[in-house]
Amino acid sequence: MIDIQKIRRDFPILDEVVNGKPLVYFDNAATTQKPLPVLEALANYYGHYNANIHRGIHFLAEKATSAFEASRTKIQEFLNAARVEEIIFTYGTTDGINLVTQSYGRTFLKEGDEIIISTMEHHSNIVPWQMLCEEKGCVLRVIPINDAGELLMDEYEKMLSEKTKFVSVVHVSNALGTINPVKEIIQKAHAVGAKVLIDGAQATSHIDIDVQALDCDFYVFSLHKLYGPTGMGVLYGKRDVLNAMPPYRGGGEMIKEVTFEKTIYNDLPYKFEAGTPNIADVVAAKTAVEYVEMLGKQNVANYEHELLVYGTEALQSIEGLKIIGTAKEKVSVLSFVMEGIHPQDIGVILDQQGIAVRTGHHCTQPLMKRLGIVGTSRASFAVYNTKEEIDKLVVGLHRVKKMLN
Ligand code: ALA
Repeated sequence: MIDIQKIRRDFPILDEVVNGKPLVYFDNAATTQKPLPVLEALANYYGHYNANIHRGIHFLAEKATSAFEASRTKIQEFLNAARVEEIIFTYGTTDGINLVTQSYGRTFLKEGDEIIISTMEHHSNIVPWQMLCEEKGCVLRVIPINDAGELLMDEYEKMLSEKTKFVSVVHVSNALGTINPVKEIIQKAHAVGAKVLIDGAQATSHIDIDVQALDCDFYVFSLHKLYGPTGMGVLYGKRDVLNAMPPYRGGGEMIKEVTFEKTIYNDLPYKFEAGTPNIADVVAAKTAVEYVEMLGKQNVANYEHELLVYGTEALQSIEGLKIIGTAKEKVSVLSFVMEGIHPQDIGVILDQQGIAVRTGHHCTQPLMKRLGIVGTSRASFAVYNTKEEIDKLVVGLHRVKKMLN
């Protein structure tokens, strides 16, 4: 069991007053708020041991380096990766996907090779692949979905062939909340010899991730959706696959030796970490993961599921409101449309009542097109949200109807 009131006290931002009303923060799929231990880890780093890493032999540099590397080990445990060097620090999920398309894709994919993504991908898992296809002449194929927002797995199976060289799909949809059967997707892709990337941006705060059990080749996510800092993410890759890939960016730290004639690159993971990294945020990422571990992933998942069930029933009671994304397996994301009312207007009126939701296409324009809508309003719940806040959302939505109908 978790004590929600105690958890709420860990998040000072929840005491903010917005437009004269206590903040109700339901935009957690965009970014989660940060608990005090994470804020303290950031202040502590800058206040006591800010230094560049891997470069100095002085006390502060060594302390910063060991905190930075301790975070890598923590993330390795969090993902159950087999080796610490399989954890590459990036600037976020998008950066991780671009690393894979630019390094793995440009090296190993060629004209006529097929890359499979899905209808519910975020733009960050569409555009980098399109850029690659344009350059290399690869073919992008898209797994269709049903009206509930679930992948049509039989269609996926039909797409797979010896031409399939890469499959890149989202673990949890940011716009619908659907949890995809990624283990099955990975097994089937491997059966035809394709590599697989899983976009875990929306999954890591809700679901236990075990990259060895999944057997994915790559797994990417951002810490800011896991109660950690922005501007920091992780690319997990299998060691042999990462070793075969050329560096993505050149610069300091990713080298062993540089001459004007030739550069010898560094070993994993440094080969992919050119330049001064986001040290403070990497250090605080460890604290964020420890915070989630302290709460217990299963406790969080159970509580968020309660919120999802409560919220689904509550929203369904509003006439003219339709929930978008009704997959059997989903996380605590409630996307919805209201008859005759633009999602933007819903967002503005809710904001006047201190309620933060995201409105629009959620960086999933092709998905919105498939669903035949311009966008949705999206309430996404985190562990610090409450049923009372959902009640406020319902009151807010009645107010929207009254003002606009
Ligand atoms: N991808 C983030 C969202 O869904 C920004 O809001």
